[in-house]
Amino acid sequence: MSAILSLSHVGKSYGNVHALRDVSLSVRQGEVTCVLGDNGAGKSTLIKIVSGLHAHTSGSVLLDDVPVHFGSPREAQANGIATVYQDLALAPLMSVWRNFFLGNELQRGLFRLDIAAMKRICAAELGKMGIVIPDLERPVASLSGGQRQCVAIARAIYFGARVIILDEPTAALGVKQSGVVLRYVVKARDAGLGVIFITHNPHHAYLVGNHFVILKLGRVVLDAHRDELTLEQLTAEMAGGDELTELSHELRGADPGKVVEPASVAPGSVEAPVAAGSAGLAGPAAAGATAEPGGAGGAGAAGGSDRLDGSAS
Ligand SMILES: Nc1ncnc2c1ncn2[C@@H]1O[C@H](COP(=O)(O)OP(=O)(O)OP(=O)(O)O)[C@@H](O)[C@H]1O
Ligand SMILES: [Mg+2]
Repeated sequence: MSAILSLSHVGKSYGNVHALRDVSLSVRQGEVTCVLGDNGAGKSTLIKIVSGLHAHTSGSVLLDDVPVHFGSPREAQANGIATVYQDLALAPLMSVWRNFFLGNELQRGLFRLDIAAMKRICAAELGKMGIVIPDLERPVASLSGGQRQCVAIARAIYFGARVIILDEPTAALGVKQSGVVLRYVVKARDAGLGVIFITHNPHHAYLVGNHFVILKLGRVVLDAHRDELTLEQLTAEMAGGDELTELSHELRGADPGKVVEPASVAPGSVEAPVAAGSAGLAGPAAAGATAEPGGAGGAGAAGGSDRLDGSAS
């Protein structure tokens, strides 16, 4: 099947920061394309380009094989691209049905809103997705995070989205709520949409994904179809195999599992760990291996302890 949306050698620079380099990927109808990557990998930048918030600086974005440059989110929406942002998906103080029709209100005559029709359609559409919210007058703020995501997904489908982008929809959710959202990801796929599912979590991705793309420092490091990849491989790729081995060597020296009795640590005796070439790992390693009395390893560093911040005392 040909792609609805594709990126071809897309690059994006913010001044001299290259957030994306030479990124190519395809999103097909009726498939879930998972985009995974660590912090700073370029996931949000990629969404912003596709949803019309930012312009790419090189390469091309193609919709139905035609190059496009969305000048605004409204333009992307008008072309069937819906983006569900984690926190900004809905207006919290407005009711469920008002949110559902926000920006697309139905009118009766010239000046009056057709409230009855909006409530009826909202209930029917949520019902089709199996979302049960007994009182549609409730403010969205009173819904759980998972329910909010589901309302936003149902809305995008009803208003004719062809591609739906979900920005880390399960990041702040527990296991049960994540399950609810993942079910609706599948429903959006079954409704024939092309779904782009952004996540840090390979387990969530593998539950629903047809196609997996891993970004690292703005580049695609893996692009594979489900039948080319096991969950174990995806997890290993996400963890960054080499980095994990290095971390495991380093932490082995820190004696994981050791229990430090508070009384056995003399105040001021905690040495800053020397993490060869890896300043970022010093914090967690220090916190796990050398607990200060009162468990203040991290707080001590934040508080400017000479020894923990590495400076001589
Ligand atoms: N507006 C901006 N101006 C300058 N640099 C930016 C801007 N937005 C992002 N960057 C940089 O681009 C890179 C990619 O950032 P991006 O937010 O896309 O990553 P991400 O994969 O979404 O990370 P996270 O998982 O933390 O949300 C980072 O180095 C970031 O600092
Ligand atoms: Mg991001």
